[in-house]
Amino acid sequence: MDMRQTSCKSPQASDHAWWRSAVVYEIAVTSFQDSDGDGQGDLAGLLQRINYLTWLGIGAVWLTPIFKSPNQDFGYDIAEFCAVDPRFGTLDDFDKVVKALHDIGIRIILDLVPNHTSDQHVWFRESCSSRTDPKADWYIWADAGANGGPPNNWLSRFGGSAWEWCEERLQYYYHSFLPSQPDLNWRNLEVREAIAGVMRFWLDRGVDGFRVDASAVLIKDDLLRDNPRDPEAHDKTPPPQMHIPVFTDDRPEAMDCIEYIRGVLDQYNGKLLCGEVQGKTDRIGHFYGSSRPRLHLPLNFALLDSDWNAISIQATIDAYFNAIPKDAWPDFVIGGHDKHRVASKIGQAQARVLAMLVMTIRGTPFVFAGDEFGADRVPIPRARVQDPFETLVPGFQLGRDPERAPLRWDETDGGGFTAGEPWLPLSPDRGRNITAQQRDARSLLSLYRELIGLRRQEPCLVHGEYQPRRAQNDVFSFGRRLAETEILVALNFSGEPRRWEWRGCGMRLLSTVLNQRSGEVQGPLLLQPNEGIVVKVAG
Ligand code: GLC
Ligand code: MG
Repeated sequence: MDMRQTSCKSPQASDHAWWRSAVVYEIAVTSFQDSDGDGQGDLAGLLQRINYLTWLGIGAVWLTPIFKSPNQDFGYDIAEFCAVDPRFGTLDDFDKVVKALHDIGIRIILDLVPNHTSDQHVWFRESCSSRTDPKADWYIWADAGANGGPPNNWLSRFGGSAWEWCEERLQYYYHSFLPSQPDLNWRNLEVREAIAGVMRFWLDRGVDGFRVDASAVLIKDDLLRDNPRDPEAHDKTPPPQMHIPVFTDDRPEAMDCIEYIRGVLDQYNGKLLCGEVQGKTDRIGHFYGSSRPRLHLPLNFALLDSDWNAISIQATIDAYFNAIPKDAWPDFVIGGHDKHRVASKIGQAQARVLAMLVMTIRGTPFVFAGDEFGADRVPIPRARVQDPFETLVPGFQLGRDPERAPLRWDETDGGGFTAGEPWLPLSPDRGRNITAQQRDARSLLSLYRELIGLRRQEPCLVHGEYQPRRAQNDVFSFGRRLAETEILVALNFSGEPRRWEWRGCGMRLLSTVLNQRSGEVQGPLLLQPNEGIVVKVAG
């Protein structure tokens, strides 16, 4: 195989963008640290934990929505875009967070939710009020269908029809998500300008960029054509996923909206636009844009969606690198507020292998707070369910509460998270907590810290070319090269010792086992069960 054809080269000129070297750490403020005993995390709590972020070594935080919201969907139902919800604090608290983070060299990005608002938003109240209101066309309105029912067959992701009747206008409005989350009409230029204003408000306050929520669904078919039924759907398919959403998701015109958003961002220097994109790996390349730039980093969830073994991971990574444009910067997400906790899927031993993989492969790592100490899915008793996804589409494990449970900082009842009653139960696994793992030099958390430190020390791990190697014998390995430096990473996906067939010699920089000093090594090497190592090849 000609290695050069599949390897992924870096354009030198833009290598200095901060978001290429930063580890991005997603924080759901509600679940991070409570300061006032109401059981919900807040900005003052985040401030108290800032030393932890420095200790860990991450380069940027992304905060899930902190804006004014009736909180029916974890804050993704925004009632006022330019205001902080009182349960998180005030705008003043927010400014303090920005300053404190910037003082220690950590960037901050916010969630931007351009697709929909809360039904409590004044724009929607006005749009609802009459068909002649100046904002009448700010949302997606349609007359009833021929039988007096919804205009077409479009489904909400959270169950049922995506159309809701409005008595005031005697029309339906469209909602991709909850009925209380009406979709904005991105064909309307005033709507675009309004969202641009929101972006400027936060950029002017010093934020370093945005994660664009639901960026692929901004435009819906204007002929309102029915979505076809998915021929592969079966009786285990969740009802909202019975259709192929060709007329609602990933419309070509949505790309134009992303380009518009990027244009606003680019009026400022050095800002990052990443975004939640839709569907399969083969579509991801389009979200970077070509003649007109779109997202710097379309979020790549492929590692989470892949089977967890050496061959599948190799295929997943190859498919991803093949799908993105030559000059595009990759990224790898290992967790998120919508995704099941990865440690529960692959187990604690392999979580160490994943840590090494994501911190040494070419691309920006995205870690969801908790992943770094192996947070598991927390069992949620029925009476404490918060996520409407769980109640509206029951029986498919779609609810996201188990990954949104507050962080366990210590083994106490409140977990060091709150002095009150936490909004969701904490993990019953009291021993798995941040304080305990900070003290244990061989914990997963210590491994993350070592790996993040290593990325800082070795520019090759950030900027180096990616060189695929052949997965063999349950060992997935790859190389990184920057000028004269060559680093190899070998990961044992098996729970048994495995031989890594590499001929050469070099310096071991790190092992996931964390009990061996760095030192000279010579291949082939016997890897311990679930062990990964990083070797700097002797030049
Ligand atoms: C995005 C968010 C998700 C939310 C949805 C509706 O997919 O990540 O948490 O439920 O948008 O806003
Ligand atoms: Mg609080």
